Amino acid sequence: MTAANATRTAHRRRPPAPVPGDRELSRLELLLRLRQNPLTIWRQRHFREPIVAGEGIFGYGVVLSDPVAIRHVLVENAANYRKDDLQRTILAPGLGEGLLTAEGEAWKRARRTLAPLFTPRAVTALARRMEGPAEAAARRMARRRPGRVVDIAQDMTRVTYDILAETMFSNAIAGGADAFGKALTRYFETQGKIDPLDILGAPAWLPRLGRWMARPAVAFFETQVTAIIAERQMLRAQRPVASGGPDLLDALLDARDPETGTGLSEAEVGANVITFIGAGHETTANALTWSLYLLSQAPEIREALEVEVDAAGEDLAAAALSGNGLALTRAVIEEAMRLYPPVPSLSRTALADDAVGGRCFIPKGALVVISPYLLHRHETLWSEPDRFRPERFLPGARETIERYAYLPFGAGPRICIGQQFAMVEATIVLAALVRSLRFEHAGEEPAPVHHVTLRPRQGMPMRVISRKGKRQEA
Ligand code: HEM
Repeated sequence: MTAANATRTAHRRRPPAPVPGDRELSRLELLLRLRQNPLTIWRQRHFREPIVAGEGIFGYGVVLSDPVAIRHVLVENAANYRKDDLQRTILAPGLGEGLLTAEGEAWKRARRTLAPLFTPRAVTALARRMEGPAEAAARRMARRRPGRVVDIAQDMTRVTYDILAETMFSNAIAGGADAFGKALTRYFETQGKIDPLDILGAPAWLPRLGRWMARPAVAFFETQVTAIIAERQMLRAQRPVASGGPDLLDALLDARDPETGTGLSEAEVGANVITFIGAGHETTANALTWSLYLLSQAPEIREALEVEVDAAGEDLAAAALSGNGLALTRAVIEEAMRLYPPVPSLSRTALADDAVGGRCFIPKGALVVISPYLLHRHETLWSEPDRFRPERFLPGARETIERYAYLPFGAGPRICIGQQFAMVEATIVLAALVRSLRFEHAGEEPAPVHHVTLRPRQGMPMRVISRKGKRQEA
C-alpha cells in the first residue's frame, strides 16, 4: 500500500480532545478552566468564527483564527505587538533574559547574534550529533521486560534532553546529566501553571506557589550552567578547537552581533542555554509522544511508515536532512503537531490602535490570542479537522496548506529559531524508533492538557514491542 493510500484509510477514530460546548462560560468557570486546562475554554463558535472579540477576564481580547489577520499581527505590523505580560511572567523566572522572553532592542540584538546558530548549514552539522542519542533511546526501550507498560512521554523527554545535552555541551555536564535532567523535569512540573494572581494582575513580588516551588530547580540549573560555561572557557583557553567539532555552547561563546561585533555577556550565554533547553526539550518531546500515540491508533499508517523507514537506510541524519527519504515520517510529525501543537497558544498585547486590514479593529492594550490548537482544528480552514490524516503534509499536498493556518512554530520575526533543528531532530528520533519498535497504547485514552506545552495529562502509557515480534523489557 502506498503512503498516501494508507493514510487515506486511517482516520476512523477521532483522536482525543476536549469536546467544545456552546454555552458561554462565567468568569469563575473561565478562571478555573484557565488554571486546570486552558484548552477547555474554547467554545464551538471559536472553531467556526475567524475572529472572536469581546471583554474577557484579561480586559478586551481578540481571538484570531483568520490567516490574513494573523499575518498582519505576527508579520506585517509585528512592531505593534509585544509578547503579553502574562506569557512573560509565566516564562521569565526560569528563562531570564534569553531570546524567548527578551523584548525591544535587547531581543533584536540577541536574535541577530543567535541566528547563525540555527541556519540550515549549522543544523546539518548538529544533525550528526542527534543520531547517537536517538539510537541509544531505541536500544534502551528495546531492552525492556516484555509486556511491561511504560510511560513513553518520559522516554521522549529523556531522548530530547539527551540530544540537547549532546548538541549543546557535547554531553559534558559538570554535575551529571541525570541530576540536571531531574532538576529540569521538576522545573517544568512546578513552573508555568497560570496562577490566579497573574490573571488578577497582582504585582510580581507577590509569591506564586508554582514558581516558589520551582525555585530550587531553577537555582540548581542556573548554578550548573554557570559551572559548565566556566569549565568550557577554561578548556577553550587550552585547546581552542574541540575534538568533536564546535557544539552550540561554542557557537554561543563565539557569537557576535553582525552589526556591532559585540559578543554575548556570560549571563546572556547562560540565559540562552537555559532558554534553548526550556524551549526545545519539552516541545519536541511532546511532538514525538503524540506522534507515537497517533501511530498506535492507525495501523495502516504505521505499516507505511515502517516501509519508508526500512528503505531509508542506516544514515538517518542524511535522510532527515535531504527531505526525500523520510517524507511520511515528517508528515506524521507535522500532522501530530497540527492536532496537538506543542505550543498551543501565542499571545500579544497591542501597543497602539490597529485596523487589521479591514478585518477587525484592535484597540491599544487589547490582548490578542492566536491559538495554534484552535487554528489547526478550525472548521473553515481544514477538511476533517479532527482526524489524523498525515497525507495533508506529504509533498504535493503540503504546498496547498495556507501558510498562516498552520503555526506550530509561530510566524514573523519571533518565529521559533529552533524550527529546523526540531524538525530534523524529531524526524531522526521517530525514524530510529519505528525502525525497530512498535508502540501499543495501554490504558485510558490520553487527555491533552495545556500546561506550558500540550502534553498528555497522565503521561502516555504504552507497551513497546519489538518489530521482530518479541515484547520488550523495561
Ligand atoms: C517541536 C518543537 C518546537 C516547537 C513546536 C516550538 C515552538 C515555538 C513557538 C510557537 C515559538 C514562538 C512563540 C511566540 O511567538 O510567542 C517558539 C520560539 C522559540 N523557540 Fe521554539 N519550538 C520548538 C523547538 C525549539 C528548539 C529545539 C529550540 C532551540 C534549540 C527552540 C527555541 C526557541 C526560541 C529561542 C524561541 C524564541 C524566539 C524569539 O523570540 O526570537 N524551539 N518556539
